[in-house]
Amino acid sequence: MCGIVGYVGKKQAAPVLLSGLAKLEYRGYDSAGLAVREGDRPVEIVKAKGRLKVLAEKTDNGHALAGRCGIGHTRWATHGEPSENNAHPHMSDDQNVVGVHNGIIENYQELKDKLLRKGYKFYSETDTEVAVKLVDYYYKKYNIGPVDAIAKAMVRIRGSYALAILFRDYPDQVWAARKDSPMIIGLEDDAAYLASDVPAILKYTNHVYYIGNLEMACLKEDSVTFYNLDGDTVEKELTEIEWDAEAAEKGGFEHFMMKEIHEQPKAVRDTIHAGVKDGQIDLSEVGLTDDVIREISDIVFVACGSAYHVGIAGQYIMEDLARIPVRVELASEFRYRKPLLKEKTLVIVISQSGETADSLAALREAKADGIRTLGIVNVVGSSIAREADNVFYTLAGPEIAVATTKAYSTQLAAVYLLAMKFALVRGEISAEKCADMLAELMTIPDKIERVLEDKERIQWFAAKYANAKDVFQIGRGLDYAICLEGSLKMKEISYIHSEAYAAGELKHGTISLIEDGTLVIGVLTQKGLYEKTLSNMVEVKSRGAYLMGLTSYGNYGVEDTADFTVYIPKTDEHFATSLAVIPLQLMGYYLSVARGLDVDKPRNLAKSVTVE
Ligand code: AGP
Repeated sequence: MCGIVGYVGKKQAAPVLLSGLAKLEYRGYDSAGLAVREGDRPVEIVKAKGRLKVLAEKTDNGHALAGRCGIGHTRWATHGEPSENNAHPHMSDDQNVVGVHNGIIENYQELKDKLLRKGYKFYSETDTEVAVKLVDYYYKKYNIGPVDAIAKAMVRIRGSYALAILFRDYPDQVWAARKDSPMIIGLEDDAAYLASDVPAILKYTNHVYYIGNLEMACLKEDSVTFYNLDGDTVEKELTEIEWDAEAAEKGGFEHFMMKEIHEQPKAVRDTIHAGVKDGQIDLSEVGLTDDVIREISDIVFVACGSAYHVGIAGQYIMEDLARIPVRVELASEFRYRKPLLKEKTLVIVISQSGETADSLAALREAKADGIRTLGIVNVVGSSIAREADNVFYTLAGPEIAVATTKAYSTQLAAVYLLAMKFALVRGEISAEKCADMLAELMTIPDKIERVLEDKERIQWFAAKYANAKDVFQIGRGLDYAICLEGSLKMKEISYIHSEAYAAGELKHGTISLIEDGTLVIGVLTQKGLYEKTLSNMVEVKSRGAYLMGLTSYGNYGVEDTADFTVYIPKTDEHFATSLAVIPLQLMGYYLSVARGLDVDKPRNLAKSVTVE
């Protein structure tokens, strides 16, 4: 997820572009750049690695760049590490076409190969440079204008994009094209604006156009013209935005956490698509070949917090599917216990930030022992990503809320793909079984959407427990892994004491803590363990517990025991965590809101724990 901006008008462009980018830093902040132009003079391009302030300093807050037309970009790397070279804007070698992009070009390698055969050279590792040069290629090959050149590129590109483009032969114009990635276009008497999101332009205008999918636009100082793929103009109404700037930054949600909870379907979909090519699981970008997969003797997941909970789920899934021994270790323990690892052990370090001190130290410990390491990481170019032998990048985009949601869900998706690939390569599941599971996995994003539609019921129930003192979450197998994450969400943002227990453990001590009215959440998504967990729920109910059941549609018998039941769509049991965790994320969120707490920045916590 990145932020793009565009401007053409009576003012100097660079300060306006920087101001807009500052409002989009939540979309990405590892590098940034501007391209600014005055009339038909050559374009000036300045890029910088690091936060936006580095670019602002480099351009004297934009005053060092002359020109009333320009585009800008703040980056969250998905292809190519954060660097000045990979920062946008990207351009054709003769600067005939200069562009910025938010999205993912899925077939960028195929297009890059085509352009290389046509004599193009590439200076960066980005998919964006490919898109820009593809427009340049069509523009020159067919000697056509921007509309036709962009349209031809749009037809060839697979993926998502919000593009802002400058053409050397068309001064004082910013061209735009959109498919699936967000873009807003604003118009005032003296200028036209373009951005990934409303906050970037709200300071200048609240009169906006919504550009549709597979549409293009030409922005001039006093007009905006829209086109469809056929090059026909499309009439649009100028509408007025009612949001204030802060609400706009959160996409209209009250908190980043709720926004990110709702971004999970897209984040999971993007992550799955990144690991699938032509209907097959393709880990070539990860670098784990079939031969390597076959020789691995055992797996150790190492992580902290929610990432550790992904490892717990991963253990059940990987062992069940690939029949390979798996253990899970807390990074802070692993790094000090001189772990017993075999020559062909694979250590998988899971980390959203890629900078967690304990997880990084654990990675280095494994590498010092000569063990192969794989990072499941959300931040391109982070320490763990750079130091691991192999990396599986999750595509959650920047996660602002301290309590992880979308990053956690994308880590699960990565684990599913790894487990299925290992099982297939090691002959534990057939190609047909793998294909069936992959087809089901592809439905998970839509099923997450369906669970989110039920959020008002969760909100109503959470409000009843805003003053709870203790909440227990119980489950068996994967349901226990779900309870661990649900319990952490509740603790870290509502400050309510919550414990996750393997349901079979209750009788070994914990059940003595159950009193009249104690809320116990029973998670029952695993068919073979359903009756066992249900009987545990009956045990605690007989001791006064108030029971919430969390299970799949169809298991209506739960309502004979539970006082309140939440259902999730049926799915392959290996993937149930992705659906069952959503109501628990919402529960933690609503409890925190009901208690008037700082949901996005809970006390004592940091987004990335880069110290021991
Ligand atoms: C999760 O909600 C917490 N914010 C925390 O447990 C987090 O998962 C943990 O600190 C690991 O962070 P990482 O994924 O960036 O390594």
